Amino acid sequence: MRPSRRQLLQGAGAAALLAELGWIRERAFASADTSSSPDGMPGRDRYGLEPGLTYLNHASVGTAPIAVQRAHAGYLELCETNPWLYMWSEPWSEPRETVRARSAALLGCSKEEVAITHNTTECFNLLAQGLPLGPGDEVLFSSLNHSGASVCWSHHAAAKGYSVRRFDFDLTRIATLDADEIVARYERAIGPKTRILVLPHVDNQVGLRHPVAAIAAMARERGVRWIAVDGAQTAGMLPVDVRALEADIFATSCHKWLQSPKGLGLAYVRRDVQRDLRPMWVTWGQERWRGDARVFEDYGTRALPAVIALGDALAFQSAIGDSRRTDRLRALRETLRDLVAERPGLTWRSPTGWTLGASLAAVEVRGRSSTEVAARLFDEHAIVVRPFALPGLNALRISPNLTNDAGDLERCLDAALA
Ligand SMILES: Cc1ncc(COP(=O)(O)O)c(C=O)c1O
Repeated sequence: MRPSRRQLLQGAGAAALLAELGWIRERAFASADTSSSPDGMPGRDRYGLEPGLTYLNHASVGTAPIAVQRAHAGYLELCETNPWLYMWSEPWSEPRETVRARSAALLGCSKEEVAITHNTTECFNLLAQGLPLGPGDEVLFSSLNHSGASVCWSHHAAAKGYSVRRFDFDLTRIATLDADEIVARYERAIGPKTRILVLPHVDNQVGLRHPVAAIAAMARERGVRWIAVDGAQTAGMLPVDVRALEADIFATSCHKWLQSPKGLGLAYVRRDVQRDLRPMWVTWGQERWRGDARVFEDYGTRALPAVIALGDALAFQSAIGDSRRTDRLRALRETLRDLVAERPGLTWRSPTGWTLGASLAAVEVRGRSSTEVAARLFDEHAIVVRPFALPGLNALRISPNLTNDAGDLERCLDAALA
């Protein structure tokens, strides 16, 4: 039986409070474990998506498993029974560090190199105002860079004295590019003043998986000091190893493919880079966390129930396993590409193969406005995709996750052509 609050506080103390979290988690996972999928992969019944909705926009924002939602709700409820105890005293310090340890395992770094942020945008804001960049230094990124990793640089450039340059990535040639050409495109763009290169691991428009390690090695040879990688689309979709990527900084948003509660992100800041980076938020933790990425999440009060539930989202994803997830997403993508090829009127606008691709692909409905098609898909067919109307790209971005199947893809394409 659940111990009373008084017993918790007076009796076994911290251990009992920890057990309380475990009890909520266990109950949440047991009550939501209804998977009917024969291969053990989480089926649609593990999620709360509206019946009849075809959700193909996991690249914009993911949906948390019911188990994670319930655990989150349980932590919120518990927190409200004694906010001071859970928010300001010690019982949730250790669970929070467990979340950090899981995050570090996910990214392939040490726990002292991970800050639990709110999203990817936050990490790039941190860099734009906190790196020692000034007059004579240039920030470089391509047109594939998301605004969350781009706008902050221009915002701080005048005050800090550095310059910002964006170069165009030709979206009309994406399907035929190879890794060497991508590296060469970045190489041509780098100039003598380029100090930091910002690039997506997988971009959000056409899903080009950048050969990050090769770009990083080339850029360093040309005097670029920092490689900052936007991993908003990769953590939880593809295996990530920040050291193998040769990233100095890697940022992600956990509410996409990691399916955490909304408003959570991770920032990997390599140990030696931490010394150069001034925190953006500061309160009482600067001395306590010196030499540790936690100085970058010195927020004061934050939504701890959500942070603790991030640990459950990470555990949920890790139980699926990287290779099973990758195999399934790859198969879905190949199905999508084949379905597009079979339908006159559609054009595949993403990399052809999986090595440079991801579980998000751009499909052009020839002769139609992608914005109008996406609106019609939602209004008339309850299908959610993201349209892109950019120079060189008028396409629907389709981003399936494990809850989707070939039927969803077929329904989406047929409705788009109708
Ligand atoms: C590649 C990429 N970077 C950054 C972001 C911004 O994410 P957030 O709003 O969670 O910071 C997104 C969101 O779609 C994205 O796709």
